[in-house]
Amino acid sequence: MANYHQKHHQRPKTKPTHFQGMVTVSKKMMEFIEQLKKAAASDANILIRGDSGTGKELAARAIHSLSPRSKGPFQALNCATLTSELMQSELFGHVKGAFTGAVADRKGLFEAAHRGTLFLDEIAEMPKDLQPRLLRVLQERHFSPVGSFKIVQSNVRLVSATHQSLRRLVEGGVFRADLMYRIRVIPLFLPRLVERERDIEILSWLFIDEFNRLGQRVISAIAADAIEAMLKYPWPGNIRELRNNIEHAYGMGEGDMLRLRDLAPEVQGAPIPQNQAIDGPSIRRQEVDEILTALREANHRKGEAAAKLGISRSKLWRKIREYGIQ
Ligand SMILES: Nc1ncnc2c1ncn2[C@@H]1O[C@H](COP(=O)(O)OP(=O)(O)O)[C@@H](O)[C@H]1O
Ligand SMILES: [Mg+2]
Repeated sequence: MANYHQKHHQRPKTKPTHFQGMVTVSKKMMEFIEQLKKAAASDANILIRGDSGTGKELAARAIHSLSPRSKGPFQALNCATLTSELMQSELFGHVKGAFTGAVADRKGLFEAAHRGTLFLDEIAEMPKDLQPRLLRVLQERHFSPVGSFKIVQSNVRLVSATHQSLRRLVEGGVFRADLMYRIRVIPLFLPRLVERERDIEILSWLFIDEFNRLGQRVISAIAADAIEAMLKYPWPGNIRELRNNIEHAYGMGEGDMLRLRDLAPEVQGAPIPQNQAIDGPSIRRQEVDEILTALREANHRKGEAAAKLGISRSKLWRKIREYGIQ
């Protein structure tokens, strides 16, 4: 039994929509799902824009499974985690001996995803020198692996994702306009979690049900002050951060009530340690939160955390030092 003398909050009565792993009661998300369905049915290249943890990868997989290519392969690559050379051979493959370390032929993702969908996450990080090659394979539907003149056919539908404005990057000269138009035939926008406030509760219960099934501990109520804090918190890491918090609460608390003190300190309202402001407090705080979330999620393995954040390991180290993160 929950401690019913403590103020608590019951599960909302509204039945959420479940669609391809996406769970929501928000009107904004329902609109997103409608647009996603239409977009998936076409064969156009899609660009999903949304902040970290808003469900871009989930949406990309949904697009593939709802598309006429669903029986074909789905291949994915995060463009923020590789050097230009490695990304080139990941995308286009290479032949043995093409460069030092190319000890065998390797098939690229454009070949592996033939007749299916290729998902390029963090497309804004695509190095400038690779952008013409990407444009060419999308236009011509064939390419040659690194170090080879062989022509390989590649009919792929490209789904890309980014948390940045490509238009702004085009203006800044780091992204090619012609490539932007080619990959953003249909743009889709995922709202941040704070823009779908009612989903905070709905998704908390979704994750509670998920962790309850593990059977270690069963939660049946959320303390009123915990829900209040969750509704006030800005969730810079969006749904991923919410899920991590629920998991954190399972580990930290006991009994059948999820309590305020079981949530991560920043959600409880603890201030983030401030050094001198660099980008202004809000951007800085958001970044610190994202880094903390990624580190927690990766069990403090820096390489894994960097991959989750879509930045290089050395950049993560720099930020940890700069922000004084423990
Ligand atoms: N609408 C949703 N309903 C349930 N779970 C979701 C929803 N959106 C995202 N998630 C979950 O949140 C986490 C982050 O989603 P992901 O697609 O990886 O985000 P992104 O690629 O935008 O960073 C994943 O565990 C995903 O399953
Ligand atoms: Mg992602």
